[in-house]
Amino acid sequence: MEPFYYKDGILFAEEVSLTDLAMQVGTPCYVYSRGAIEEAWRSYDEAFGGRDHLVCFAVKANSNVAVLNILARMGSGFDIVSMGELERVLRAGGKAENIVFSGVGKTEAEMRRALEVGIGCFNVESEQELYRLADVAADMGMVAPVSLRVNPDVDPKTHPYISTGLKASKFGIPIDHAGAIYEHARSLGSIELRGIASHIGSQLTSIDPFIDALERVLALVGELSDAGIELKWLDLGGGLGVRYYDEQPPEPSRLVVSLMDRLQEMGSRYQRMRVIIEPGRSIVGNAGVLLTRAEYIKPGEIKSFVVVDAAMNDLMRPALYDAWQDIVPVNKDLERETGVYDVVGPVCESGDFLGHDRELSVASGDLLAVMSAGAYGAVMSSNYNTRPRAAEIMVDGNQFHIIRRRETVDDLLAPESVLPA
Ligand code: LLP
Repeated sequence: MEPFYYKDGILFAEEVSLTDLAMQVGTPCYVYSRGAIEEAWRSYDEAFGGRDHLVCFAVKANSNVAVLNILARMGSGFDIVSMGELERVLRAGGKAENIVFSGVGKTEAEMRRALEVGIGCFNVESEQELYRLADVAADMGMVAPVSLRVNPDVDPKTHPYISTGLKASKFGIPIDHAGAIYEHARSLGSIELRGIASHIGSQLTSIDPFIDALERVLALVGELSDAGIELKWLDLGGGLGVRYYDEQPPEPSRLVVSLMDRLQEMGSRYQRMRVIIEPGRSIVGNAGVLLTRAEYIKPGEIKSFVVVDAAMNDLMRPALYDAWQDIVPVNKDLERETGVYDVVGPVCESGDFLGHDRELSVASGDLLAVMSAGAYGAVMSSNYNTRPRAAEIMVDGNQFHIIRRRETVDDLLAPESVLPA
């Protein structure tokens, strides 16, 4: 489905006009399409066919409880990285046993809570973490299900800030050391060795690095099996990219089928493993836009600017990664002069931009949509410059629902207090 499209010159989300929506809820706001989220999740799920598998949505990409709830209703699992994300998933109706817990810095309190609710697996990223988890579980009289997250040292060929599978990265256990740690872990009574996990980076646009990582991980699974350690879960991480500009990432189903074909070829000893994947961006990225209004047009000798009411605090990807996201008028039939503009927000930083050198036909008061903003948009927003965070809206057919109301300044100030007189 194409969730965002023009009808009579007006940008729609499913069957809702974004001009009407902006009039009713104001700007800036994030707008998501329920249909697009469901379709993307299903395309992963269905591609596995009859194989034992679990699609665990990477909560960090979009953690709104309504988004998580939509996925939970379809039977999704979840990949989390904090206690906060754990509580979100539980409140959204996600099942604890379908949660995998990633991240290099799990605290003792996080481990306790995750054990208490009975999560499916801890993806352990270091030897020290393993020992801490063993102690916490032993203290609670429990056995913790564990996959070691290994670092297979493959180059995902993506932005350095979002590459995670190279030797120089803080993530995972170097694959050459993992065998010894598995060996040691098997003597820990409070640890159940359940599987192996790897995640090599994000916004990958080719299948090859995934296949590379799979082969390296399976080689280790084979060695462990020879040594009598039979792993049951094979977690291949997330990372499939979406189209922001002219990228041509494979469809989720093609990635899954390629991986499952390769897995099949690697031999019968791997066929009983349950396959987990942790996609985030490719489920929600193109299912959302950031709706914003042009406040001022500011012509200049060298550069001209459109100052909009959304800023780097609302969408950080351009400022942080120099990421390119398309910016389009919501009403494209208005008679406007066309110019080349930097689209910037009101924040007092030169890095506060949503797009550089964009050709736009725009006047003050017009609505613009920043496309492909459903992943790593709202979740990365902040209150910098004491800007209340944007509202989030879920469109469902011809209906829309406010799934996060716009913050107020009172919300922001509530936790603060002055010194006594
Ligand atoms: N699993 C693990 C262990 C991860 O670290 C990540 C993402 C994912 C799954 C999901 O990856 P995805 O399918 O979304 O690519 N803020 C950056 C992206 C950071 C990704 C971090 N880890 C951005 O806006 O591009």
